[in-house]
Amino acid sequence: MKTGTQWTIASSTFSEVKGVWEQSLWPGRKSDIEPTNPLVYLGGYDPDYLQRQVQFFSALSSGGDLLGVISLAESPSPEIHSFYRLRGIFVDPSYRGSGIAKALVQRCFDVVKASSEAAIWSLPRETALPFYLRMGFEVTSPMIDKEFEFGPNCYVIKRF
Ligand SMILES: CC(C)(COP(=O)(O)OP(=O)(O)OC[C@H]1O[C@@H](n2cnc3c(N)ncnc32)[C@H](O)[C@@H]1OP(=O)(O)O)[C@@H](O)C(=O)NCCC(=O)NCCS
Repeated sequence: MKTGTQWTIASSTFSEVKGVWEQSLWPGRKSDIEPTNPLVYLGGYDPDYLQRQVQFFSALSSGGDLLGVISLAESPSPEIHSFYRLRGIFVDPSYRGSGIAKALVQRCFDVVKASSEAAIWSLPRETALPFYLRMGFEVTSPMIDKEFEFGPNCYVIKRF
């Protein structure tokens, strides 16, 4: 792990984040990488989600290197109007364990907390689940083994 590097969280763009997703998070992915996708919390698809707002954030070193990325997409449902999905968090392996992912997620929490009765869901890989639990998410499904390309995954939620 590289210690002592200064970094900040900043708004980002899909093209910047997409490069990390393609090369590092989902290498060799079969389906196209879009800014968001129509997956609904706990299952199903809603094509309307593709028109919804997505925000991208990155962690940048003082020299401008991209150290981590995340996205936050609107994902409304009849039960929770201010509902969002966290997708695509990735931190450069050399910089893990220094709080970058926590800061990226906290930035998303800050966006969401502006709405009343908001919640965020995600679909972490089993390997990333301990991080999500540490960030206060609760597990709301069994591990799903075959449905997703980089699984197993499970649904998690955090309510505000
Ligand atoms: C999961 C990931 C984003 C964590 O990034 P990170 O920058 O190392 O995480 P942080 O340093 O911000 O950790 C925040 C907290 O979570 C804990 N944590 C992070 N990863 C953990 C793990 N695998 N197991 C247990 N705890 C973990 C840290 O100990 C820290 O706890 P603290 O607040 O008590 O200090 C990173 O390992 C990663 O990019 N993994 C590969 C991509 C991936 O799997 N993404 C998710 C796909 S769904």
